[in-house]
Amino acid sequence: MKKSIFYLIILGLSLLHVSCAKGSGENTAEEHTDTTKPLTAETLVVYFSQTGTTEGVARMIADITGGDTWRIEAAEPYTAEDLDYTNQQSRSSLEQNNPDARPAIKGDVPDLSRCRTIYLGYPIWWGLAPRVVYTFIESCNLNGKTVIPFCTSGSSGIGSSATQLQALAPGATWMAGRRFGAGTSRGEVEQWINSLQEDNDNDNNINYNKMNIRVNGRTLTATMTDNSSARALIDLLKEGDIVIDMSDYGDFEKVGDLGHTLPQNNENINTQAGDLILYQGRNFVIYYGNNSWSLTRLGKIDNISQAELKELLGEGNVTVTLSAVRQ
Ligand SMILES: Cc1cc2nc3c(=O)[nH]c(=O)nc-3n(C[C@H](O)[C@H](O)[C@H](O)COP(=O)(O)O)c2cc1C
Repeated sequence: MKKSIFYLIILGLSLLHVSCAKGSGENTAEEHTDTTKPLTAETLVVYFSQTGTTEGVARMIADITGGDTWRIEAAEPYTAEDLDYTNQQSRSSLEQNNPDARPAIKGDVPDLSRCRTIYLGYPIWWGLAPRVVYTFIESCNLNGKTVIPFCTSGSSGIGSSATQLQALAPGATWMAGRRFGAGTSRGEVEQWINSLQEDNDNDNNINYNKMNIRVNGRTLTATMTDNSSARALIDLLKEGDIVIDMSDYGDFEKVGDLGHTLPQNNENINTQAGDLILYQGRNFVIYYGNNSWSLTRLGKIDNISQAELKELLGEGNVTVTLSAVRQ
């Protein structure tokens, strides 16, 4: 196992700390998954915790944000033996070493329809999130939600644990995660949440209704569709412009690889000149003619005639640059 000696040392230190704090490695949490209670808040704190450290941080976040909590539990609970990091054949070692391991979750996953922001907490196990957290993400529809990962550990950072989870739900907006130690204070958690709020305020300067398209020296403005695909595109543009090499297809469109996969909201569309379309999740299309197909609307170019658009795009390949509009 990669980096295993390093992890064994920090693991030994961190587990010593936890056993001093808790008296045992058993699950001390009182709350259990309650699938009958409806989740009403827009913020949900979902967490997995075996010795109470992540749970402690999760409860502080819920208290500060007014969010609901939902605890991930494995259908088959972890015993102290399962968590034995000195045994390469223990359940946790085998699961963490197997990228395809997806331990079943106890009960149904929560109804996330009302919630917009999910804080997702877990302990670091061998540098990663426990595989049962992967099961949770793959069992939910996180499209259009904002996910804020956090972890607790002996000393490892959040590192690639969060990027691996992010890859499982590309339709969500993932914010940079944060690692906490065993003795985390409420003040520390509060400071972190306030800093997220500041980032969010900066994001609020972005106009999600508009996008600029630079093509052949001219900047066009587009009005965006109100769906998760268009929002995901603007979220990407917040990080920087996207340049797309486009070519003609079918004598009615220019199409090019977006370089990112967006959530799809397909419907039967009779396209018109100026329509901005997502095809199969990652092809960006500008229509200058008519076509009928199951496609995802992203938006429409403002104030341009078919003839003007055709002339501007020209014949053959063209490079376009998409950028966000700030208020
Ligand atoms: C199986 C296992 C593997 C662990 N691997 C790491 C690790 O790679 N790096 C680290 O810093 N801590 C590691 N730890 C320590 C936990 O991340 C740490 O104690 C965490 O805060 C426990 O959270 P919990 O009390 O919410 O379960 C590991 C613990 C266990 C049980």
